[in-house]
Amino acid sequence: MNFAEFAASRKSVRGFTKQPVTKETVDAIINAAKWAPSSYNTQTWKIHAVVAIQLFDVMGITREDKEKRMDWMMRGFRQFDAPVSLVLTYDKALEPAGITQFGLGSLAYGIVLAAWDLGLGCVINGQGIMQSDVVHKHANIPDDEAIMICIALGYPDPEFAANEVRSTRADNEEFVTYHGF
Ligand SMILES: Cc1cc2nc3c(=O)[nH]c(=O)nc-3n(C[C@H](O)[C@H](O)[C@H](O)COP(=O)(O)O)c2cc1C
Repeated sequence: MNFAEFAASRKSVRGFTKQPVTKETVDAIINAAKWAPSSYNTQTWKIHAVVAIQLFDVMGITREDKEKRMDWMMRGFRQFDAPVSLVLTYDKALEPAGITQFGLGSLAYGIVLAAWDLGLGCVINGQGIMQSDVVHKHANIPDDEAIMICIALGYPDPEFAANEVRSTRADNEEFVTYHGF
């Protein structure tokens, strides 16, 4: 099954057997999910894995190198010189739009994964919307839409050193609390 089929085959489930889910299974799921990107890799998320019966009971560049640092910053504003930038927006009428923004985060990760599956690369680019007025104008985005994030998209350059960087993730113990296992 390819990713498109996989994504399309998923659906919400609203009825369940009584078979318990082990801590190992929960861990395996989190181990896969935590590779989600986060801004500056801060991983400012927490997960409470709760056994439901409890609920039933109680319910790279150095500081000196200024020129290169400036160039790197400008590359961010230039969407990393990617051939395509995807700008994700939502209707301002939805504000306060926390849940919409959450959904856009999920969409962004889906885009990143789907592009990778097809041999393309992405960077979710918070810097690229710091001047959202410019993005609004040049991408012809209506004023009644708020820009959430943009994603620089293209085929990976194997010669580009920063493409070699492999980020890490915290151990589950640092951000997961198990209840009732
Ligand atoms: C909301 C958000 C904003 C980001 N903004 C930037 C950015 O402005 N510049 C950048 O180089 N990377 C940006 N990133 C990419 C993160 O730095 C990257 O996902 C994180 O360090 C983990 O690395 P990985 O994606 O290689 O696993 C952003 C990621 C997210 C989720």
